[in-house]
Amino acid sequence: MLFTPESTADGSFTFFSTDYGEAFHSQHGARQEAICKFVEPTNLIEKATRPNVRLLDICYGLGYNTAAALEAIWRVNPNCQVDVIGLEIDQTVAQAAIAYHLLDGWHPKIQQVLAELAQTFRVQAPHFKAQLLLGDARHTLQQLKQAPFDAVFLDPFSPPHCPQLWTVEFLTLVARHLKPDGRLTTYSCSAAVRTALIAAELKIGSTNPVGRRSTGTVACKQSASIDLPALSPRQQEHLLTRAAVPYRDRALNDSAETILQRRQEEWKISSLEPTSHWKKRWLTLI
Ligand SMILES: C[S@@+](CC[C@H](N)C(=O)[O-])C[C@H]1O[C@@H](n2cnc3c(N)ncnc32)[C@H](O)[C@@H]1O
Repeated sequence: MLFTPESTADGSFTFFSTDYGEAFHSQHGARQEAICKFVEPTNLIEKATRPNVRLLDICYGLGYNTAAALEAIWRVNPNCQVDVIGLEIDQTVAQAAIAYHLLDGWHPKIQQVLAELAQTFRVQAPHFKAQLLLGDARHTLQQLKQAPFDAVFLDPFSPPHCPQLWTVEFLTLVARHLKPDGRLTTYSCSAAVRTALIAAELKIGSTNPVGRRSTGTVACKQSASIDLPALSPRQQEHLLTRAAVPYRDRALNDSAETILQRRQEEWKISSLEPTSHWKKRWLTLI
């Protein structure tokens, strides 16, 4: 088995990726992260009263974000039809999660459908239809012809380790798959990611910190942005510093190294304020 379970502070387990040099979840709680950073900010609990809810889970991994969403939706409305598209480059992650029984804490029906999804990549069950599209999400998303989604979970490894899924071009593509009142959510509060979401013509807000970790980001189309939780003045100013230079990948095909290098060059000639000045200013204000 390629992955070894590691415990997190809420008692749930995650994996560590030696390829990306990073854990799949926050050490403060993998399960808690799925609920607080992904499910709650997308308003799925309110949307569960609808007959149908559609989810796009980018970087499906162990499947925790989908599991947390299903639990929240079916708790409110067991008859809600949930359609899920998961995008994932490595099928062995979800399969290892099942083999190690890491989904055992979720409802038995959820365990059953997600175990089937990990093995056969396609499931049709009462109130549930799902497909796991394997490959680079930059390419599988371009092939996706499905109706738009109520919620999009954006959960790649961090921008320095996986910049290809945080670029202006990729997020512009993702934004096209949101319903007019749909919400995208991510654990990241990176200024470069927030700038890319704005460049993708989305409105952004801040989600609550989980454990000692920083805030995340929630985004939606302009028409649905009225109740978006606002960025603090400190967070807004962060977007005016060099940290906000976004990642770019025009043909959605560049390597991580090329994307990092391109951003570094743009950063060097940027006329934006150095981020260290912003940090110092806010340290003295606190
Ligand atoms: C932080 S983990 C996601 C955790 C997951 N959402 C969960 O709840 O378990 C990132 C995932 O992105 C996948 N990944 C990395 N690069 C990818 C790419 N280019 N396209 C699709 N998936 C990718 C990794 O295999 C890994 O499973």
